[in-house]
Amino acid sequence: MRLVLGIESSCDETAAALVTPDRVIVAQRIASQDDAHRPYGGVVPEIAARAHAERLTPLIAATLADAGKTLADVDAIAATAGPGLIGGVMVGLVTAKALAMAGGKPLLAINHLEGHALSPRLADPTLAFPYLLLLASGGHCQLLLVEGVGQYRRLATTIDDALGEAFDKTAKILALGFPGGPAVERLAREGNPRAVPLPRPLLGSAEPHFSFAGLKSAVLRAKEAAIHADADLAASFQQAAIDCVIDRTRRALAAAGEVTALVVAGGVAANQSVRAALESLAAQHALRFVAPPQVLCTDNAAMIAWAGIERMEQSGWTLSDPLDFAARPRWPL
Ligand code: KG4
Ligand code: ZN
Repeated sequence: MRLVLGIESSCDETAAALVTPDRVIVAQRIASQDDAHRPYGGVVPEIAARAHAERLTPLIAATLADAGKTLADVDAIAATAGPGLIGGVMVGLVTAKALAMAGGKPLLAINHLEGHALSPRLADPTLAFPYLLLLASGGHCQLLLVEGVGQYRRLATTIDDALGEAFDKTAKILALGFPGGPAVERLAREGNPRAVPLPRPLLGSAEPHFSFAGLKSAVLRAKEAAIHADADLAASFQQAAIDCVIDRTRRALAAAGEVTALVVAGGVAANQSVRAALESLAAQHALRFVAPPQVLCTDNAAMIAWAGIERMEQSGWTLSDPLDFAARPRWPL
């Protein structure tokens, strides 16, 4: 069985994984840098790049050791080549190039967004194209029509903040720490989602995109007004954000035509209320709802290896990206 090594370093997770074409994640390791960034309340690119540089090589060695494999057993090396924080992306890509060169293996320069877009198929072999994917993380908020390997249509993106970023900023306003999404969700459980009147940017708009900056500013003003309990603010923020997500996703479903499923990925997919709202939207459209396991929703290297495998299978295992492939801070699908 063929084996692909995946490497991910585009944000604040340093990750390596070994994946086979029959969807077995033979080994994977993810080193989170949350502790390093927590004092700053957000990801600091310089700190992230340095941490990737220190951790990646031992992490790859440990991942290979977990599987009882060596570089010689690997058939290709897939690394995130963008988009993301450029210092971190360069660390991962340069490491992959060195391993590819040393081992005489094909290099696969993977678009991180393609990794997210195809990851649901790693978890679920029955998931067929085309499907509509909501990708909602700290860095991205997009609706993608996934029509096939290499065939992605971006139906919507955010014109300001990503959804996870809005959760993180709300957490900061409410002094809940970093990363903020899970803390906001926990506090929201104790609050009334209708207590605080908050805006729902672009709700009902013919414009396809997302916007969360106005919502975040409204949370800040409401906090400064000091009228409402923090739990009510958290719950009302979460409800407003969900209303926006559902409205935008409903619009994209209408624009997408026939799809086999509604799929969610990205860190925000961990949010139970977001999931429940999407599940009910899918049910209204008589669609399957697919949410991959959390470890595949947040940044990981298995999805990068898997995107490499999907591209390799499409090419009959003849593909190899050039060794001078440059890291890309921006790389729309
Ligand atoms: O995919 P991810 O691990 O990293 C990238 O940003 O690419 O996503 C992290 C984001 C953060 O903004 C985090 O606050 C958010 O996902 N998040 C959540 C929850 N868990 C993580 N947002 C809302 N509710 C959650 N339970
Ligand atoms: Zn990501």
